[in-house]
Amino acid sequence: MKEIKIETKLRLFEGLGELPIDAFNLMQSAINARTKAYAPYSNFSVGAAILLDNGAVVTGSNQENASYPSGLCAERTAIYAAGAQYPDAKMLKMAICAGSKTNITQTPIPPCGACRQAISEYEIKQSTPIEIYFMGETGQVAQSLSIKNLLPFMFDKSVL
Ligand code: THU
Repeated sequence: MKEIKIETKLRLFEGLGELPIDAFNLMQSAINARTKAYAPYSNFSVGAAILLDNGAVVTGSNQENASYPSGLCAERTAIYAAGAQYPDAKMLKMAICAGSKTNITQTPIPPCGACRQAISEYEIKQSTPIEIYFMGETGQVAQSLSIKNLLPFMFDKSVL
């Protein structure tokens, strides 16, 4: 028997003001996208924004459905829109902002497992890392330099 240890790394910024300007601007797009969430069932709204290497910014927000599993998270709404609209562009950075309508979220909210899997698909496809910034409504902003830090030991096409 052998034990393996997997390390991961995140950076924490004290607030929006500490972010590099491009990440700050992208987070503003995510914050704006969050206002367009359709979340009448969970009252939890999420906005995501993706910066592409052609300069375009593609945004998304969570879209819920009375048939709950038919809804989609903000991150996948954004990443599938980016993939559909700009199939040849590389994704450089993604910003995510999330929070509940009923209480103020002050800690960074990471993307769910399914969204991590979707992000990993595009990172592998383009062979360059996608930087991910995520936050709650206010407070610290976390940064992951690659999806690999959020999804270690990932399932990918190499095993198919
Ligand atoms: N949600 C996202 O948009 N992104 C995530 O990574 C986690 C959850 C949405 C889905 C649902 O509309 C609401 O937040 C509550 O789960």
